[in-house]
Amino acid sequence: MTAWIIWSIHWKNKTNLNNIRRNLAWKNSLPDNTAQGGDSNILIAYFSRVGNTDFPDDIDAVSSASLLRKDGELFGNTQYIASLIQQATDGDLFLIETAEKYPVDYDETDALGQKENRERSRPALASHVDNLDDYDRIFLGFPNWYYDMPMAVYAFLEEYDLSGKTIIPFVTSGGSGFSKAVSAIQSIQPNAEVLADGYKVTHSKVDGVTLADIQEWLDGLDG
Ligand SMILES: Cc1cc2nc3c(=O)[nH]c(=O)nc-3n(C[C@H](O)[C@H](O)[C@H](O)COP(=O)(O)O)c2cc1C
Repeated sequence: MTAWIIWSIHWKNKTNLNNIRRNLAWKNSLPDNTAQGGDSNILIAYFSRVGNTDFPDDIDAVSSASLLRKDGELFGNTQYIASLIQQATDGDLFLIETAEKYPVDYDETDALGQKENRERSRPALASHVDNLDDYDRIFLGFPNWYYDMPMAVYAFLEEYDLSGKTIIPFVTSGGSGFSKAVSAIQSIQPNAEVLADGYKVTHSKVDGVTLADIQEWLDGLDG
């Protein structure tokens, strides 16, 4: 049985977010869905189910795989890590957003993600970075989808020339980690420096990640 299937079963059967620890650091971190165009030379671009799905307000984070609730706010796992990186770096948050929303139902999204991966499709994107020249360092976050990046992240990477920039990947997953994502990013952007020591965390552990954890990872980065 593959790691992903094991984790998937674990997640669906045993997820219990009732004991979400209050993380004081995350407050005021609500992600925006456009780059801010401020003074920062750091962009934090991420894809997440939350932001790409029209969830009803009362969606139950405990029974809905891949969702977090922090102080009443709904977060995707990758979105949450992105928000911590934003706090640690003061960079600009950018949601990689598809034109078509993904289904609310987890299994339907799972099936659609699998189909997109099989077909190597490139979903049309609804969000675009207009001020890419402002950024030197690009944190790129995504959930692992079928041992790969979601196809929307490929669409994002193929839209821009990131030559000369440093790309710092981060991933959340059921256990597969980056799979082949780092080399895939490097082959799409051969003239960017793609750091190998990206941040990875399994989805069952996301709610316990603190700003201090992220800071420690950032302090140890090579690039
Ligand atoms: C379509 C789809 C495919 C997935 N495939 C994998 C996988 O191959 N390996 C894995 O470890 N997790 C897989 N997952 C689990 C997600 O990577 C994990 O729940 C992630 O934290 C979700 O992040 P998000 O809340 O930011 O969307 C998959 C989830 C979905 C929806």
